Amino acid sequence: MSADAVAQLDELKTVAMSCTACRLAEGRLNVVFGDGNPSADVVFVGEAPGAREDEQGLPFVGPSGKLLERLLGEIGLRREDVYIANVVKCRPPKNRDPRPDEIEACKGYLREQLSLIDPKVVVTLGNFSSKLLLNTETGITRLRGTAYEWWGRYLVPTFHPAAALRGSARVLEEMQFDFGLVAAAIAGNLGANTGGAGANTGGAGANTGGAGANTGGAGANTGGAGANTGGAGANTGGAEGDPAAEPDDDPEQLGLFGA
Ligand code: URA
Repeated sequence: MSADAVAQLDELKTVAMSCTACRLAEGRLNVVFGDGNPSADVVFVGEAPGAREDEQGLPFVGPSGKLLERLLGEIGLRREDVYIANVVKCRPPKNRDPRPDEIEACKGYLREQLSLIDPKVVVTLGNFSSKLLLNTETGITRLRGTAYEWWGRYLVPTFHPAAALRGSARVLEEMQFDFGLVAAAIAGNLGANTGGAGANTGGAGANTGGAGANTGGAGANTGGAGANTGGAGANTGGAEGDPAAEPDDDPEQLGLFGA
């Protein structure tokens, strides 16, 4: 990251620290802007700060953060190698879900963070960030398991670590699979045979067995759980099936980038 981009990220943080754009400003102890290496290859995007994060002003410092660090370690990364942010920067009261108007008020910060850091891979943790960035109503269980080509980089949606802490060993195993996709995307080892918009539709088996690619975006990957097992499938195209687009080409197109 250039010195100029570092300075811009710092400026953005300064602005965020005194943000009052939504009601979450009233109850917060700290703005949790984001943390980590501004030159990271990977940015993780969670949902919203919890109590520990609100106290410390840092993302993922509670139990979910511990699991995230473990999963990172399994692909040879440390927390300080990556950048971690959330969809909303202030803790919702009693850890309720962030509301649409709060996400709307906050998403410009995330957009700028991603533009400035310019990572190779964005990893969305859980439903909120995955649905926002892929601009889809499809849930994380169906979205996960593949790497989507997204605005000139990869986006790998996976479960929120809290789901693995609450859930079965299967959730953790699926997260480990997804982290494998992250490692492959960083290393440039994801398959590149673009199979067309239909390549990953239709359910189980459609993208099994290797490096199949899925163009067309989030909507093209709605064939069912298990559709992407078995390989480093890449889903090219982005949320609206516009593989060539850059974020600034049409700011209205994507959940994060527009309405
Ligand atoms: N959960 C999140 O989504 N973000 C955090 O920072 C902590 C827990």
